[in-house]
Amino acid sequence: MAFLTVSDIFLEYETPRGALRAVDDVSFTIEERGETLGIIGESGSGKTSMVSVMTRVFPRNVRRFGGTVTFDGTEISAMSDEQYRRKIRWSEIAVVFQGAMNSFNPVIRVGFQVAERLLLDRLMSKADAFKEVERLFELVGLSRDVARLFPHELSGGMKQRAAIASALTLKPSLIVLDEPTSALDVSVQAQIMNLLKKLKTELGFTYIFITHDIALAADIADRVAVVHAGELREFGPADTVLTTPNDPYTERLLASIPRLHGAEKPGFLTGAPPDPMARPTGCRFEPRCPYAFDRCAAEQPPLFHPAPDHSARCWRLAEQSTQPVPPEVRS
Ligand SMILES: Nc1ncnc2c1ncn2[C@@H]1O[C@H](COP(=O)(O)OP(=O)(O)OP(=O)(O)O)[C@@H](O)[C@H]1O
Ligand SMILES: [Mg+2]
Repeated sequence: MAFLTVSDIFLEYETPRGALRAVDDVSFTIEERGETLGIIGESGSGKTSMVSVMTRVFPRNVRRFGGTVTFDGTEISAMSDEQYRRKIRWSEIAVVFQGAMNSFNPVIRVGFQVAERLLLDRLMSKADAFKEVERLFELVGLSRDVARLFPHELSGGMKQRAAIASALTLKPSLIVLDEPTSALDVSVQAQIMNLLKKLKTELGFTYIFITHDIALAADIADRVAVVHAGELREFGPADTVLTTPNDPYTERLLASIPRLHGAEKPGFLTGAPPDPMARPTGCRFEPRCPYAFDRCAAEQPPLFHPAPDHSARCWRLAEQSTQPVPPEVRS
């Protein structure tokens, strides 16, 4: 049985213009513990909203959400909020939220803020909790003394390390990292990526690594899910999807990575994703797709299976490949 199975999750927000479907029946799996799944997509494609469904941390205006999430053999989506809080949140699945490094309280020393989770359920005495935080800080490459500093005394990279330490407090096995390096300059970004790889190798974490940067996903992911306009476009092993993509959207994302060598110019992804309140009735990428033909504007493509472990949502595959993926194996 897969380590994590996410089946047909969806989420709708209530907005002044009506219901906005940010996640539209998305399914994916993490087969093995210790694997890294990269979730890639442009801003607004629904990545953070997917995290909300998996981790049950929602903005107030969520109108409806659902689908099935099975983690290590347990259907966690069927748990009550109380059960989820006691058994899963932070102790099994932890999240480094998008912008977490900027959400430290400015008037409380960083170490105390990270220690809070250890004190909440009286897991430890204050002194032991602080010692544990110092240990975690060293693990993420910060000196122990940093625990006594206020957030403004830390650089961006140090704050992000502290945010990662905070996610580790209750020894989770799955860590969801939502754009963990987007706010950092490239050299600090590289340091954080190396830290994540080191933690994974030494402690065996499973990651969901969310990014709009396909090159970063290529650097860390074993498997990737490419999302666009709330839906899954392509899913499969990173080395297949990122070298021989079957979806034109993935292809455009890859073409937009600048290359240092060779004469090839980056091919920018032109246009904007569709307005989520007025998405095309056919393929959602059709208005921007260089390969679009009649059927693309008329009918929404299902996920096709160009290989047993690879799926993609493009009508061109209807001719080349076999059949649309039946719902029972789509996950
Ligand atoms: N609280 C909210 N209320 C209404 N609409 C929202 C809310 N949060 C997100 N959205 C909308 O839902 C869609 C998906 O947003 P989401 O934040 O999940 O995307 P994302 O892929 O994480 O983007 P980014 O890369 O910018 O973080 C977007 O159209 C966004 O405008
Ligand atoms: Mg986001």
